[in-house]
Amino acid sequence: MKAGRHPGVFEDNRRLYTQNLAPGIAVYGEPLVKEGGKEFREWNPFRSKLASSILKGIPPVGINRDSIVLYLGAATGTTVSHVSDICSEGIVFAVEFSPEVFTELFLLAKRRPNIVPILADAAHPEAYYHRVAAADVVYQDIAQRNQVEIFVKNATLFLKRRGKAILCVKSRSIDVAQQPAKVFGEVREALTSNFRLLDYKTLAPFQKDHAVFLVENRKL
Ligand SMILES: C[S@@+](CC[C@H](N)C(=O)[O-])C[C@H]1O[C@@H](n2cnc3c(N)ncnc32)[C@H](O)[C@@H]1O
Repeated sequence: MKAGRHPGVFEDNRRLYTQNLAPGIAVYGEPLVKEGGKEFREWNPFRSKLASSILKGIPPVGINRDSIVLYLGAATGTTVSHVSDICSEGIVFAVEFSPEVFTELFLLAKRRPNIVPILADAAHPEAYYHRVAAADVVYQDIAQRNQVEIFVKNATLFLKRRGKAILCVKSRSIDVAQQPAKVFGEVREALTSNFRLLDYKTLAPFQKDHAVFLVENRKL
């Protein structure tokens, strides 16, 4: 296993791994691998859009060992857990609005001191504004019709100067009837009027009709 292009992400034979911050515990049934006295968790690209973006060649997204990350749409914490492995000396503020999945996220956070779970609607960031620090990275994966608006709102409020933000888009959740390429083109246009676009990737074959956009805050 060797360190890859992304800080804290290791690769072996096109498989991705992060070093387990809670050794001995798998989060979603992923294999645990011991090497050189360390334990690594395999990161499944079919379960995580961040892992699939990395395999599709996205450049480093700004998540480092000491990063502050605001993660919107945390669900049960599959991807959040790998982000928590990577920013082992940082913090992941993990926002989720569904009480059903939040319980599992809350239990995950009990085992991982760098996850702060927040039960809130990302469409109303004023509700958690006072509980979240300025972020190096904002990551959003919420499959909502108005997801671009929610993303712009949160990134504008929380992102540090020169911070990076990642938006995962499922074209069907914006417009079921429209061709994904057209939906992605419109998202791209909306984002470039607010941020500097650094990269864009579609996520096939890992996720159908999904794309990720990596942007940088333009604030000087
Ligand atoms: C596709 S799942 C996220 C999967 C997760 N990011 C991962 O990779 O492990 C989308 C999640 O976003 C949540 N969500 C949708 N709209 C939201 C909103 N406005 N605020 C907070 N969470 C939201 C849903 O409840 C769901 O758990």
